[in-house]
Amino acid sequence: MKTTTTIAMVAAALLAVAGGTARAAERTALPHIIPAPARAEFCEGTFEFSRDTIIIASEEAATALAVLNGYFGAKGEGTACPPGARCVSLAIDAALAANGPESYELSVAPEGVELRAPAQAGLFYAAQTLRQMLPAEPGIAASVPCVKISDAPRFRWRGLMLDVSRHFFPKEFVFRMMEAMAALKMNTLHIHLTDDQGWRLEIDAFPALTKTGAWRGASSPADELSMSPSGPAHGGFYTKQDMREILRRAAELHITVVPEIEMPGHAVAAIASVPGLSCKGERLKVSTRWGVHKDVYCAGSERVFEFLEIVLGEVAELFPGEIIHVGGDEVPKHNWRQCPKCQERIRTEGLANEEELQGWFMKRIENFLESRGKRIIGWDEIVEGGLPPRAAVMSWRGMQGGITAALEGHDVVMSPTSHCYFDYMQAETGEPRRVGRPIELAKVYGFEPVPPALAGTPAAERIIGAQGNIWTEYIDSEELAEYMTWPRGAALAEVAWSPKETKDYAGFLARLESLLPRFDAMGVNYRRPGPEDGANARF
Ligand code: ACM
Ligand code: ZN
Repeated sequence: MKTTTTIAMVAAALLAVAGGTARAAERTALPHIIPAPARAEFCEGTFEFSRDTIIIASEEAATALAVLNGYFGAKGEGTACPPGARCVSLAIDAALAANGPESYELSVAPEGVELRAPAQAGLFYAAQTLRQMLPAEPGIAASVPCVKISDAPRFRWRGLMLDVSRHFFPKEFVFRMMEAMAALKMNTLHIHLTDDQGWRLEIDAFPALTKTGAWRGASSPADELSMSPSGPAHGGFYTKQDMREILRRAAELHITVVPEIEMPGHAVAAIASVPGLSCKGERLKVSTRWGVHKDVYCAGSERVFEFLEIVLGEVAELFPGEIIHVGGDEVPKHNWRQCPKCQERIRTEGLANEEELQGWFMKRIENFLESRGKRIIGWDEIVEGGLPPRAAVMSWRGMQGGITAALEGHDVVMSPTSHCYFDYMQAETGEPRRVGRPIELAKVYGFEPVPPALAGTPAAERIIGAQGNIWTEYIDSEELAEYMTWPRGAALAEVAWSPKETKDYAGFLARLESLLPRFDAMGVNYRRPGPEDGANARF
C-alpha cells in the first residue's frame, strides 16, 4: 500500500545526483503544506470527502474540529465510525507523547482519515495540515492524496511581535493576524503594548494610562523634535474586556500571547500619564516622534516600583501565559547619571555603574513577577547589566546577545534585525515604504536560529525559537501591516517548525502558490513574491 510513486523516485534520483536528498524530493511532492512536515510518505490513491463523510471527534478535539468545520461548515460529528462509513477521526493518544504536545500523526487512506496527537495542540496542527490539503474556499467535496505524515516542531517558540504602541490595531485585526499565524503553526504572539508614543492596555488602578497615555497629538515638521514626526494625532487602547476576547481567541488557536510592558526605557507615555515616574519629575507629553527617548523610569524612586508592581500585578492576572516581556532595550543612562536618587541607589546597592543599575532594576522586577508565578523575557540589552537568574533573552541586535545568554544557561529567542525585522522593506525597489535595508523573502527563509558558535553544543538547546517583529512606526494601516508580514512570516514559520536539513527554498516558493489563495480567502493581505524572490534570490 505505502509505495512511493515512480515520479517521486525519479525526482529523488535526480535530486541525489544534483546533490539534494530523497527527502527533499518527497517534500516537493507535498504541494500545499507550510511549514513542511518533518516526515511525509505518500501512498496510492485518494480519500474523497463528500456530504457522507463523517467526522468523529471527542470534546477534547474541539479546537481541531473547528479548523475542519472552517472548511465543511457546520458538519455534524459522531462518536464512532459506523461500519462501512468513510470517517475522519480525531483522537488524543497519550502513547504519542514522546514527540511533545505539538506533535501529531496524520494518515490519509482511501478508507478513512486519522488525526492523532498526544495533546490538543498537536491535534489542532494535524487539522491545520489537513485543512491545507483541502481547497482554499470552503466546500464539501474534495479529493485528498493518500499520505502518512508524522510531524513535530523544531522549536517551541514560533513567534511574531506586533507593535500596537506606535500605531494601534483593533482587536479584530489581532484576531485575523492570529488566525493566519495558527494556520502556519505559529504559537506565540508577542504584543508590544507600551512605548513612548502610546500606552495600549487598560489598567484599573491607573485610568490615566489610557485616558492620557493612549493618545498622542499631531506632529508636523514645525515641531521642536520633528526629525522623525509621528504624523497625525493617533490613539486607541484595549479594554480589559477586549484583551480577554483576544486571549480567548488565542486559546482556541493554541497561541500564547506574551504582553510587553516596556521598562525602564520607552516609557514616555506612562511618564506623561502618571506623576512622579521620571528622574526629573517633569510632566511630559505622549511622544510625537520616533526614536530613542532620554526620559526613562527613575531607578532610584520607590514610587516607580510601586507603580510597576501594580501594573504588572494586573497584567499577570489578565494574561494566562507564564512569560511577560519587560523590554529593557535602548535605555539612555544620561538622566540616571544626573539623578541624586539613582546615584543613591547605586551606592546603597553596591553597584558599579548605571549598567548594573539597569541589571538591578530588571532583577527586582523579575523577583516581583516570580512571586506572581511568571517569568520574564527581555531584549538583549538586559545581558549587559547582569542577567536576572531566570530571565529569557530576545536577541535583536544580532545573535551575540543570544549567544552570551545561552552560554550562561538562559533561554533565548532569536529575532535579529538582519533577518527578522518585518518593518524593513522586502525589496530594493517598488516598495510602499523605504525602511531599513531590504530583508527579502529568501533572506528570512535562509535564517538559521542556532548560530554556528553554538551548533552541536549543549547551549544550542537554549535557543527556544525564532520571532519576526512588526514594528509599526511606518506601518499605519492594517493592509500595510499584513503586506509587511506575509509571506515573510510564512518563511519564518517554516524556519521555526521544519527540520533544518529539509529546508528547500524552491519547494517553499512552489508551496507558497497554494498558500496565497488561502490568505485571499481569509481576507489577509500579503506581498506577492517578485522576480527578486525567485531565481535571483539573495540568502
Ligand atoms: C528593538 O528593536 N528596539 C528591540
Ligand atoms: Zn532617577
